[in-house]
Amino acid sequence: MDALTHAVEAYIGNSTTPGTRKNALDAVRLIFENLDTAYKDGKNIEARRNMLRASYFAGCAFTKSYVGYVHAIAHSLGGKYNVPHGLANAVILPMVLETYGDSITHKLRNLAVTAGLCDKHEDDKTAAQMFIDAVKDMKKRFGIGEHIPEIQETDIPELAHYADKEANPLYPVPVLMDAGELETLYYRLMPPVSNS
Ligand SMILES: [Fe+2]
Repeated sequence: MDALTHAVEAYIGNSTTPGTRKNALDAVRLIFENLDTAYKDGKNIEARRNMLRASYFAGCAFTKSYVGYVHAIAHSLGGKYNVPHGLANAVILPMVLETYGDSITHKLRNLAVTAGLCDKHEDDKTAAQMFIDAVKDMKKRFGIGEHIPEIQETDIPELAHYADKEANPLYPVPVLMDAGELETLYYRLMPPVSNS
């Protein structure tokens, strides 16, 4: 899921090249073709080989074209609470993609086509939602939830400050957010309060 996040964040950012776009698309295609198999059958060497190639291509994409707010937020949670990096990315990715809204629908459509989720005639908005929903479904199949239980409300201003400083001005994010806007994302990552 970290490799997928590298590919997606590199692809939707504002600092891509034809080479990094191709790397990101190749990574997304390979991940959608192989990750479930590798997850279910760790002895499937072909699937694991393809995942290694996907991870490599995604690495080529993001080391030139950077990542975005998914990583900025995940790093703050890893640093503060030791939340595993790939897990944090997986939890956060769909939420941040939905927050970017219309600014990335065309790019997400390209990812949806590459992932085999729809054909190239699908309209941007529908295809973009298909891609986000496919990531959500993938998370469910892997037992990954929607929340980060470690987050303490009193830490949120500090966490948002870290994410803001990491991403701005370094990451070419599709939509720039300030620390206050980032705080709302941390609140959404907190598990709902139980009344029982
Ligand atoms: Fe990463």
